[in-house]
Amino acid sequence: MANAQPALDAPPSPPSGELQATGTLDIKDSRTSKNYSVQIIQGGVEGDTATRAMDLRQIKTAPDEFGLMTYDPAFMNTASCKSAITFIDGDRGILRYRGYPIEQLAEKATFLEVAWLLRHGELPTQSEYDQWVRDITFHTYVHENIKTFLQGFRYDAHPMSMLCSTVAALSSFYPEAKNIHDPEQRTISIVRLLAKLPTLAAFCYRHIKGLPFIYPDNDLSYTENFLSMVARMSEPKYEANPVFVKALEVLFILHADHEQNCSTNAVRAVGSSQVDPFSATAAGVAALYGPLHGGANEQVLRMISEIGSPKNVDAFVESVKSGKGSRLMGFGHRVYKSYDPRAKIVKALADDVFKQVGMDKDLEIALKLEEAALNDDYFVSRKLYPNVDFYTGLIYRSMAFPTDFFTVLFAVARTAGWLAQWEEMLNDKEQKIARPRQIYVGYGERPYESQLKNRFPSAKKDVLRK
Ligand code: CMC
Repeated sequence: MANAQPALDAPPSPPSGELQATGTLDIKDSRTSKNYSVQIIQGGVEGDTATRAMDLRQIKTAPDEFGLMTYDPAFMNTASCKSAITFIDGDRGILRYRGYPIEQLAEKATFLEVAWLLRHGELPTQSEYDQWVRDITFHTYVHENIKTFLQGFRYDAHPMSMLCSTVAALSSFYPEAKNIHDPEQRTISIVRLLAKLPTLAAFCYRHIKGLPFIYPDNDLSYTENFLSMVARMSEPKYEANPVFVKALEVLFILHADHEQNCSTNAVRAVGSSQVDPFSATAAGVAALYGPLHGGANEQVLRMISEIGSPKNVDAFVESVKSGKGSRLMGFGHRVYKSYDPRAKIVKALADDVFKQVGMDKDLEIALKLEEAALNDDYFVSRKLYPNVDFYTGLIYRSMAFPTDFFTVLFAVARTAGWLAQWEEMLNDKEQKIARPRQIYVGYGERPYESQLKNRFPSAKKDVLRK
């Protein structure tokens, strides 16, 4: 019998995850006239092509020389890992988790189902999902000392500072999490982080509002429980607005992973030192806090309130173009050079939420800003389109979240991706401690000649003088 062909509707077989050699690149070094041949590698059908940077090390002018490196500030053209988790085609505006289009996941999946998918590579069966939800629900409580720890923050502390510190603090409550090569320890740490992030986030919110902390309600779903811990007052049972629950579920799915972004790279780099996952996740929260990354959703609303009125949009766009004002926050992306597929979903979601709570007064400014930018050659020629953060802030605000809390919501969701990426890194035999090279451009050797008369000046004296 001839080789049987797989049925057309048979599920695709899982990718091997290996890099395939697809050709060679010939290089001639003009300094020595020597020729070298390096391999071109590719990861699967849709994988990008690359050469191994280490293959260039053989290119040298003398045997004791270090050899050629690549210079790539900000990783503009460097793959730091191979990954089977998230696929992005920035030119075509495609985003998939483990092969599943983001549009389908946002419409049909739950956030915890996506968190499982990201980690395990396949959708959970019903029994796997039931156990997963049960485990995560079981671990939503945090140690009571975390509350004391949070009380130490000022009333106006930024919730991302508080979140970053409390996630890092969790590491001290679970010292066994250091055993990162034990799969059981990894699983329980991942469950704890996914379970406790919403609790920590909600506690940060309650602290800045001066409200009592609300304990998790384990009868509720992941997102309902989160909203309950944020908003519940004296009612015995919190009943969340179903439109808000759906919106948050979708936003969590959209933010769950985004391949090697700044915070994921931070988690991988810090995790590569083999530190525990709580500490590595805290590094991710810190990276996400920055205004060029997760902090952008907060900056979008600040920008819109600065613009103040639709009639000021044109002048604002001009100030962005002249480089005198700030950047157009929520626009542009290192990878997407067309409309961010997440932004399309968020825009439709914003319509649903605004139908429920009424039109947000700043939506008009946002729509005008988007229209102005999409029709302006400055933005078109640089392929600057709205990214996921452009509309998320408007939705979060209409749900009554304070502006400085937006990035916290992003962090809760991205924890799923950070942990999947962290574990993938640990299981990748090619990974070692992340340690980039540099090209030294400073002084050559010179002798030490001190300029100091007093080597131990007292700061105390100055304080007393005041
Ligand atoms: N407004 C105005 N000009 C911009 C913008 C913007 N938002 N983004 C990029 N440019 C210009 C930039 O000035 C440069 O122009 P020129 O070639 O004349 O010097 C050109 O576009 C390329 O910019 P770049 O800084 O080299 O691009 P990048 O890939 O390094 O930066 C980015 C990507 C996301 C940091 C940047 O687009 C940006 O700062 N956007 C605003 C912040 C933002 O919305 N961040 C959220 C990103 S999506 C969610 C996430 O990943 O967290």
